[in-house]
Amino acid sequence: MKKQTLVNHPPDVSPPPGNVPVTAPIYQSVKFEFESIDETLRMLRGDAPGYFYMRASNPTTRQLELTLAQLQGRDDCLASASGVNSIAQTLLSLTKQGDHVLFFIETYGPTRNIIRRLLARFGVENTMLSIEDLAGVEAVLASRPTRLVFFESPTNPVTKVADVEKLVALAHRHGALAVIDNTFAGFHQHGEYEIDLYVHSLTKYASGTGDVMGGAVIGRRELIDEMRPDFAVLGAHLDPHAAFLIQRGLKTYFVRYSAQTANARKIAEFLEAHPAVSRCHYPGLPSHPHAALARKQMKEPGTVVSFDLRDGSEAARKFSEALKLFALTASLGSTESLVMPPQLVGSRDFTPEQARQSGLTPSTVRLSIGLEDVGDLIADIDQALG
Ligand SMILES: Cc1ncc(COP(=O)(O)O)c(C=O)c1O
Repeated sequence: MKKQTLVNHPPDVSPPPGNVPVTAPIYQSVKFEFESIDETLRMLRGDAPGYFYMRASNPTTRQLELTLAQLQGRDDCLASASGVNSIAQTLLSLTKQGDHVLFFIETYGPTRNIIRRLLARFGVENTMLSIEDLAGVEAVLASRPTRLVFFESPTNPVTKVADVEKLVALAHRHGALAVIDNTFAGFHQHGEYEIDLYVHSLTKYASGTGDVMGGAVIGRRELIDEMRPDFAVLGAHLDPHAAFLIQRGLKTYFVRYSAQTANARKIAEFLEAHPAVSRCHYPGLPSHPHAALARKQMKEPGTVVSFDLRDGSEAARKFSEALKLFALTASLGSTESLVMPPQLVGSRDFTPEQARQSGLTPSTVRLSIGLEDVGDLIADIDQALG
């Protein structure tokens, strides 16, 4: 073998049988081969296990998918390159021209955009209500066949809590699928409800470190199998290196979520008592309008705290820029604290009535609470409010 050949066929260093790595290696390979065409065809027909081409599957990404399915308490999962990609692919896979989708004002902006702009281009109709309008949900579902109900809980950014049990029961009574964006609640919550599909941004709590993107949809086997061919041809399979980083992040998921929630609770209590704050939105506060629902549905109320300042949007701008420990940027769920001022949180696609129903005000600030010392975070908030 010439050296030019050798560099393309390097020595095999697979550990001998019985000698296994404690952490699974990163299978950074686009292609996988079998010894024969027949074995390859058996695998491609689904008659034998294996891998062929990374756009369809890869062992490192598969390990993450199987872990996430178990965490959420469902059969299977498809991972992809970002949270919005998982949302877009799920919606594209499940709908066709003439279908109707019910969703909510209190939904992540790009998801609203996917439903109202992208799906509408393919003839999928939609209705947008407030997540608090269960009577409206019932009326819409009774009035027309609906393919799916897409919702979040707690909602972004004012942390409204959806009545998951009632929403799912209404969807199923009228033959619609119930799909939740469970990013805020996390993989350890809402599993006991009859939700058909859970989508997640893995960019948030799963990795925890804010240095990698990913998304996932989790559900029962036949729904995931139905979507799998579309996911493969739409081509946003999660790269194995990103999958490895997210898998590594999951090792500390539970302790991070709990510790960040404990910090968030203390910060919410501090904000609620502060004279500059007119209202604090945190599902763990007894004053939250959906506190009882949150206690019933959630083991932990999460790490996002929003609040309104008495002095309006300019005060909110000054506050956000005066913070020293909170990065002024998007995202949530990582170990460092973040702030989103109202100038960046606001939505341009609402009518005035929808804007009112959203619960957002010109001074709503969203905080994502990290793992820093909570005394330091409160001192920073205090000086910025001052
Ligand atoms: C509730 C929710 N869903 C989905 C996403 C999208 O995730 P990604 O940024 O991984 O595409 C976000 C991002 O902020 C989010 O907050």
